[in-house]
Amino acid sequence: MYKTLGKSLRQYKKPSFFTMVFMALEVSMEVMLPFLMAKILDRGFGTQDIGYILKIGLLMCLIACLSMTFGILGGKFSSDSSAGFAGNLREDIYKNIQTFSFENIDRFSASSLITRLTTDITNIQNAFQMVLKTIIRAPFTIIFAFTMAAYTNTKLALDILIIIPVVAAILIGIVYKVHPYFIQVFRKYDRLNQTVQEDINGVRVVKSYVREDKEIEKFKQASEEIKRIFMKAEKIIALNSPIMQIAIYSSLLIVYWFGAKYVVGGSMSAGELTSFIMYMMQILNSLMMVSMIFVMIVISEASVERVSEVLTENSTLTSPRNATKEIENGEIEFKDVAFKYHDQSAESDLKHISLRISSGETVGIIGGTGSGKTSLIQLIPRLYDVSEGAVYVSGNNVKDYDLVTLRDQVSMVLQKNTLFSGTILENLRWGNEEATFEEVRHAAKLAQADSFIQAFPDGYETILDQGGTNVSGGQKQRLTIARALLKNPKILILDDSTSAVDTKTDRRIRQALLEELPDVTKIIVAQRISSIQEADWIIVMDEGKINGMGTHEELLDKNKIYQEVYESQIKGGRISEE
Ligand SMILES: Nc1ncnc2c1ncn2[C@@H]1O[C@H](COP(=O)(O)OP(=O)(O)OP(=O)(O)O)[C@@H](O)[C@H]1O
Ligand SMILES: [Mg+2]
Repeated sequence: MYKTLGKSLRQYKKPSFFTMVFMALEVSMEVMLPFLMAKILDRGFGTQDIGYILKIGLLMCLIACLSMTFGILGGKFSSDSSAGFAGNLREDIYKNIQTFSFENIDRFSASSLITRLTTDITNIQNAFQMVLKTIIRAPFTIIFAFTMAAYTNTKLALDILIIIPVVAAILIGIVYKVHPYFIQVFRKYDRLNQTVQEDINGVRVVKSYVREDKEIEKFKQASEEIKRIFMKAEKIIALNSPIMQIAIYSSLLIVYWFGAKYVVGGSMSAGELTSFIMYMMQILNSLMMVSMIFVMIVISEASVERVSEVLTENSTLTSPRNATKEIENGEIEFKDVAFKYHDQSAESDLKHISLRISSGETVGIIGGTGSGKTSLIQLIPRLYDVSEGAVYVSGNNVKDYDLVTLRDQVSMVLQKNTLFSGTILENLRWGNEEATFEEVRHAAKLAQADSFIQAFPDGYETILDQGGTNVSGGQKQRLTIARALLKNPKILILDDSTSAVDTKTDRRIRQALLEELPDVTKIIVAQRISSIQEADWIIVMDEGKINGMGTHEELLDKNKIYQEVYESQIKGGRISEE
């Protein structure tokens, strides 16, 4: 787990190493001070030797300055490396998320990924900085200071030794108790982020259903829960400080008690006792730091786990080695395909799908909601992989193609589509970055989008809001079709992509596609019979299976579901176009 994260350290290995070196240097300077202090007290004051006092005093100043410089340098390197490390981690995670397949994305929720990219990484950054600064410093201080203390008075040093295991045991106890709380806290963070993300994205729906109060309540609950767990955890962590204080003062008491005896008895000088006490303080301070580090590690451990989970998640869909990089034509074949979204679910979402679409054909797909239309067509550009059987494009299994080639040549307008913030032109060029303005316009014309784009004051430079909320539903659909056309695909799939477009415009789009792109295989998923009735042939889906295939007339003649849909739409007046 830590190894996975360590890979992101990269160029910050050196600064991290320097941090530890400078911290060690700082410690080696610090431990000299009490020793010199004792010298001044015992020799300087004892003999009133001003020259000696000044000499040692100056040396102490010099050492203190050096120690400070090393400390500052250590601090600088530690903040550089921890901020850099966090930056690398963020980039690495983001890069990996971009390789995720739809299946991977289904597994992690969007809000959880965001928490991991933000809160979790900040936690790791803080912990990493603390650890870097302390991992060498604390043990070095303890060892050096103890050695110097033992050198000053071995007996007294041994008396102090008993306190250390007691403190250590208490610290481990605290860590053990507090750990489960932090694991819980991050799960709740996910929930909180989910609420926020959902509500902000769907703010228009929230408002139209006047759900503000309910949503505030939902947020409050999520937030309260985090507060509650944090308070529980902090209550335990808060014990850390008083326990350490007790440890510090009781050891001081021991030192004073025995030390005073030794001084009176003559086996220790007053200067030695003073320096001994200073060493004691250094040791206890370091123990305190170690205890804080323990807490930090515990807090960040849950984060480390969550971040490395994303880093080690492999895309369930990858291009094969020696992938085929060319697709000759738009022929599609399904051979006894079954598919399910979750391996563990008992029922397949698609069953026994076998069909063959010749290159250049126009095929309609119709069926009730949830009948598996989207599931079926998603298998062609390999947004998901089949569970059984195989899908072929241009005679080759889709799994043999390079993913980029496949998705460029099989252009799919998703049912749940989005535009991104930016100009219309930029959005359309997602289909093909190198497209000239004329090419973009041509695609827009085919999708019947050119005229309304021209009608905007800024035309193609009109800025779209995030998600494309400043255009109408039907306009948005036409823009997404234009974007897909710019790919110059061999296969074009429209998943319910004209549902918000009026029937007249819908017809014009189909006609334009038919006339201008005769060689492109076109698959049109629709709820309206009028959208597909002129297709070469039509597939009727029902409960994940193909219920019937044939031309409009054949299906009207034989297929019950098709007849029913037709009847209902005639009665509803939807079939009467123009
Ligand atoms: N990402 C997903 N994860 C799990 N199950 C899913 C997912 N998407 C769809 N399903 C399930 O698969 C089944 C088929 O859904 P699909 O989206 O293919 O239907 P559809 O025919 O496209 O419906 P609609 O006309 O409403 O778009 C449904 O039972 C649905 O609940
Ligand atoms: Mg669908």
